[in-house]
Amino acid sequence: MEFRVAELMQAAIRDFKPYEAKEYPGVIKLDANENPFPWPEGLKEEIAARVKFNRYPDPEARALRQKISAYTGVEMPNIMVGNGSDELIQILMLAFGGIGTKNVVATPTFTMYSLATAYTGGEIAEVPLVNGDTLDTAGLIEAARDERARLVIICNPNNPTGNSFPLAEIRQVLECTDKLVVVDEAYFEFSGSTLTGELGRYPNLVILRTFSKAFGMAGLRIGYLLAGSPVINVLQRVRQPYNSNSYSQAAGALALDYLPQFQAQVREILAERDKLMEYLLGLDLERVYASDANFILFKPKSGAAEIHAKLLAQKVLVRYMGYLPVAGETLRVSPGLPEENESFITALNAVLKG
Ligand SMILES: Cc1ncc(COP(=O)(O)O)c(C=O)c1O
Repeated sequence: MEFRVAELMQAAIRDFKPYEAKEYPGVIKLDANENPFPWPEGLKEEIAARVKFNRYPDPEARALRQKISAYTGVEMPNIMVGNGSDELIQILMLAFGGIGTKNVVATPTFTMYSLATAYTGGEIAEVPLVNGDTLDTAGLIEAARDERARLVIICNPNNPTGNSFPLAEIRQVLECTDKLVVVDEAYFEFSGSTLTGELGRYPNLVILRTFSKAFGMAGLRIGYLLAGSPVINVLQRVRQPYNSNSYSQAAGALALDYLPQFQAQVREILAERDKLMEYLLGLDLERVYASDANFILFKPKSGAAEIHAKLLAQKVLVRYMGYLPVAGETLRVSPGLPEENESFITALNAVLKG
């Protein structure tokens, strides 16, 4: 018998290309909105001392959830931990999405929402941001009226545009739909703007957070989700019991003991972002997006791909965003260490001069 793997494949993924993770060794990495600073002294040793490597992790991640509870003010039963918030996005799709459903997103936004929607068999309804930075609340509410709609996803601050949205507008969406409204607060520590205090008021509110950005733990894959108990109870049906490993659980819990040190790093990152912003605003670019996060989106007058390649040739890696809906062909840069940002400025000056 002939084995034809393509014919066995789930229909939803037939036209998919696997994610290509390109490696650029030896570059200054300003492409992934990470925290460039080393961990506070002592943290690594404390984590290693705490983890029992030969035992399965706590399937309920209790110690970590307890710390998250104290940090967010949200009760433990309303907290779910994931292998990065990427996994929690997938868990949301598995639990609420699937064939015949639609998820509503405000584009341009984080691509994982549409990717996970598609490979779980659902469709995406795009509601473009007005002028690239303003929520079309009426458009979101209208799209959510579709009986197939399940999730309305709002990234706040939005990746890749960087701006946050007025909370009143998100509240309006929450109030005018009976679908789930997922607010991705991956960059909360930079913006300071959150809806955690309103979980009790809105049973359809889901908040996503991560330790990958402000807490410098992108490599450990620690995300968490905050929601009312009825929603959490549905999500529990599709969460793998050991989805969060022991090392990451300990790291996340201990990171919160080092909160003042990480907050000091956040302040430095924001100061560096502001310097980069001032520099970019002084250039002859088509648009520099305002940022409430640790990255800046900008649109050169032409040749974004070429600028990206020329920066890379000088060992500076920014993110080439391709052609985004509304925003067009853009680049995104996240602040690195102060000397790395100086290198970026020197390299970009050289590229733009010719
Ligand atoms: C808005 C947003 N949500 C979620 C993630 C994924 O975070 P994690 O590393 O926790 O999977 C990212 C990462 O870039 C992001 O920008």
